Amino acid sequence: MTDYTLFIVDDEKTIREGITAYIEDDYQLFAYQTAEDALENLSVHNPDLILLDIGLPGMNGIQALKKFRSIRPDLLVIMITAYEDVGSVIDCMRNGAYDYIIKPIQMEGLEVTIANALENIRLKKEIKALQEDQIRKKLPCFIGESKAVRDIMADIEKVAQSPDTPVLILGETGTGKELIAMTIHHKSPNFAGPFIAVNCAAIPKDLIESELFGYEKGAFSGASNTGKKGLIELADRGTLFLDEVGDLNPDAQAKLLRFMENGEFYKVGGTTGKTVKTRIVSATNKDLEEMIESGAYRRDLFYRIGVIKIRVPSLNERGDDVLVFARYFLHIFNEKFKRSLTGISEQALRLLKAYPWKGNVREMKNMMERAVLMAEGHEVTPKDLGIDDPLSGDESADAPPLALTPLTPDGVDLNAMKSYLDEFYFSQAMDLAKGNETGAAKMLNLKHHAFRYQYKKIIREKAAEDSKGDEPDQ
Ligand SMILES: Nc1ncnc2c1ncn2[C@@H]1O[C@H](COP(=O)(O)OP(=O)(O)OP(=O)(O)O)[C@@H](O)[C@H]1O
Ligand SMILES: [Mg+2]
Repeated sequence: MTDYTLFIVDDEKTIREGITAYIEDDYQLFAYQTAEDALENLSVHNPDLILLDIGLPGMNGIQALKKFRSIRPDLLVIMITAYEDVGSVIDCMRNGAYDYIIKPIQMEGLEVTIANALENIRLKKEIKALQEDQIRKKLPCFIGESKAVRDIMADIEKVAQSPDTPVLILGETGTGKELIAMTIHHKSPNFAGPFIAVNCAAIPKDLIESELFGYEKGAFSGASNTGKKGLIELADRGTLFLDEVGDLNPDAQAKLLRFMENGEFYKVGGTTGKTVKTRIVSATNKDLEEMIESGAYRRDLFYRIGVIKIRVPSLNERGDDVLVFARYFLHIFNEKFKRSLTGISEQALRLLKAYPWKGNVREMKNMMERAVLMAEGHEVTPKDLGIDDPLSGDESADAPPLALTPLTPDGVDLNAMKSYLDEFYFSQAMDLAKGNETGAAKMLNLKHHAFRYQYKKIIREKAAEDSKGDEPDQ
């Protein structure tokens, strides 16, 4: 006896009994005279497969088929049809029937048809198990316990299921955008297809089109004489990850948009359109909306690539996730370097929490890698992390430096302090650099785009605050 449950729905007693007698040793069987009876018991016995007569009294087989499949789209239904009714089989197959058998029933044939159908279920289950196994083996886990990360994980689960939907991932450098893209791919039905990642910023502007779409032989001087497939084509039936999608030039933006609207593209130098089915996941740490305003980015493309948007907060905005990551990476690098550090010292944990993580998770990961490798004691200390503790200054360990006051049970408004520090240093850097953003960014050891992004935010917040101050008192 197998684990599978089957329903037989036929108004002819001889057929119900004949089939039952033939296969009852192999399956858990339930026989019904009408579709109505079977429907009533659908959720009670949860069958894997239904043998369904077309010519039933009351609800006929075709109506019942539609009903069963609307309740359980994965249900396998094999139609039983009288020879005179063969015409309606086409209708059934269109409505999702798996197969059909013709009366008078040949039992050996029926047995094979059922076994094949169930093999189909077994394979589907096996693929699912394989998929989960792949995810476990291939992917570093996307972890975090903050509300923001839990919401992202829920979004990943949902969006992964619809492999045609484009996803745009927004967030600062090192926040895990690529990891999210990979996770979406591995959880999607296309997981067995390719995951192709391309960094749009790293490809020279005039090569981006031929990289993405490929080229025909002799398309331009220097083109190989066999032509070349583009990355979009290589990602067929999988996922194409367009990293730094904000760096696409206007021509490439237009071509990408056309492809995303109808799934069709032309190779450079090509005259016939090609179609592929690939999911586009894009990511950027640029402010695309601002680029749209300044005319550097197409609004229609922004809407198209960002049907679903996932915003990844910076590490500093994720509260205790900093400590979750620290412990996670301790574990990972203990294993990698065959070390057995027992933990992270209290002081080191405090510093990690207060540290301004400009490089986000990537920076934390690198710092922990170095710390675990180099640690001399049994736990990770501030020295291993390479962070100076401002609270243990030269003069006295108890005297905090000017800007910092020790924490009391009343707590502190950390965000307000951070905003104050940001404003303090950003405006000084801009003054010193005489308004040159690149120079100011350098002074603060920030990348230009990160500096711009943050500086804009500071200005916006300050303007909002100023205008609040302007409002008349109520
Ligand atoms: N939530 C997370 N859980 C586990 N590891 C993470 C997480 N987020 C990021 N990482 C790790 O941090 C590193 C940086 O992540 P990733 O490359 O995905 O960032 P990114 O947002 O694509 O950065 P960039 O904008 O610089 O390309 C990777 O090693 C990644 O595995
Ligand atoms: Mg990346």
